[in-house]
Amino acid sequence: MNANVDTTALNRPVTRQTFDEVLVPTYAPAAMVPVRGAGLDLWDQAGKHYLDFTSGIAVAALGHCNPVVVEALTRQANTLWHLGNGYTNEPVLRLGLALTEATFADRAFFCNSGAEANEAALKLARKYAHAKFGPQKSRIVSCYQSFHGRTLFTVSVGGQSKYTEGFEPLPPSIDHIVYNDIASARAAIGDDVCAVIVEPLQGEGGVVPGDKAFLQELRDLCNKTGALLIFDEVQSGMGRTGYLFNYMAYDIIPDVLTSAKALGNGFPVAAMLTTHELAATLNVGSHGTTYGGNPMAATVALTVLETINQPAFLARVKEAGGKLRSTMEKLVGDYPQVFQLVRGAGLLLGLVVTDAWKGRSKDIQKAAEANGMMVLIAGMDVVRLAPALIVSDQQIAEADRILRKSLDDLLKA
Ligand SMILES: Cc1ncc(COP(=O)(O)O)c(C=O)c1O
Repeated sequence: MNANVDTTALNRPVTRQTFDEVLVPTYAPAAMVPVRGAGLDLWDQAGKHYLDFTSGIAVAALGHCNPVVVEALTRQANTLWHLGNGYTNEPVLRLGLALTEATFADRAFFCNSGAEANEAALKLARKYAHAKFGPQKSRIVSCYQSFHGRTLFTVSVGGQSKYTEGFEPLPPSIDHIVYNDIASARAAIGDDVCAVIVEPLQGEGGVVPGDKAFLQELRDLCNKTGALLIFDEVQSGMGRTGYLFNYMAYDIIPDVLTSAKALGNGFPVAAMLTTHELAATLNVGSHGTTYGGNPMAATVALTVLETINQPAFLARVKEAGGKLRSTMEKLVGDYPQVFQLVRGAGLLLGLVVTDAWKGRSKDIQKAAEANGMMVLIAGMDVVRLAPALIVSDQQIAEADRILRKSLDDLLKA
């Protein structure tokens, strides 16, 4: 390291307490601070080991510090980091080719987060409708309980009012329908709608899979009214359900698809995918971002995509998902006082608590953490499991053991 860099600043001791002192309190992180990871293994500052069934909220799909991704990132870090949009770069061109070859899409726009990808998709829909039909076609339809990000536009489109309270005035012309309710969709989607945005598998909203008939109805209504169908696959995509993208499981093709999270395995990168015709709407100067698709992000995303989009890899995700599901169904059956059902797809599962345990998913999360396992919640009534896609059968068995021990601890207390 350069002798002029003050390494004491880089290595100064910090604790969980430091979070409360210097970070804006938007989160309430766990009491322990993870410092090192490998695959599904994590260690905290005290050296305690955890089995990670969160993968950083469905992000580190290939596991922490995956050697193939580390090698690609390191190689690119020693080659070229960043250019800005006045120049393109080889990794982003290769990533664009790979993503469009692997999906329905002809064109890709790269940015840095799921919210930004959705923001781009929504702006595209507005601009396309303005140009083709006129400014009256501006309404956006989304689902209650959906989550699409935290920018003012995406949080307003999202269907959880707790995330918009206090941020008013919100952007107008956004309506919400009941997820998986065809009548609600028919009532809301008319000629003034420019976009319908939906998660084919609702993640944050409680791990709720979309019904095929509902998603097909949205497709049909969009065809009828000229609205664009946007699939938000930020959480459900990149192999999580055993398909590269979840739309492939339904065989329903959206007009626009957004991807983030696992696309970069933890390196910030996101994509909005669409067709030639729609992409033409976002002409030069109409949208952009400084970092989107920079050589570092594109190299990581391409490496992740090439690893996940292999028949054997996706077949194993389906197999592991089936194993995790049957294991959790057995667990739920053995703890009927706590859980009522398992839902989800592939390696994104939600364990739904009973009425008696309503509001207590965080208690289960904390008990698991005490026993050396990290799990997510999806609201206060659902424990969410989203292990890395490389999870082994032995790790699934270990997760089962730890969860049972944690439930026993809670029931004893
Ligand atoms: C379905 C979905 N869309 C969008 C987002 C927002 O992504 P980001 O936090 O990268 O902005 C999330 C994050 O949880 C998500 O689950």
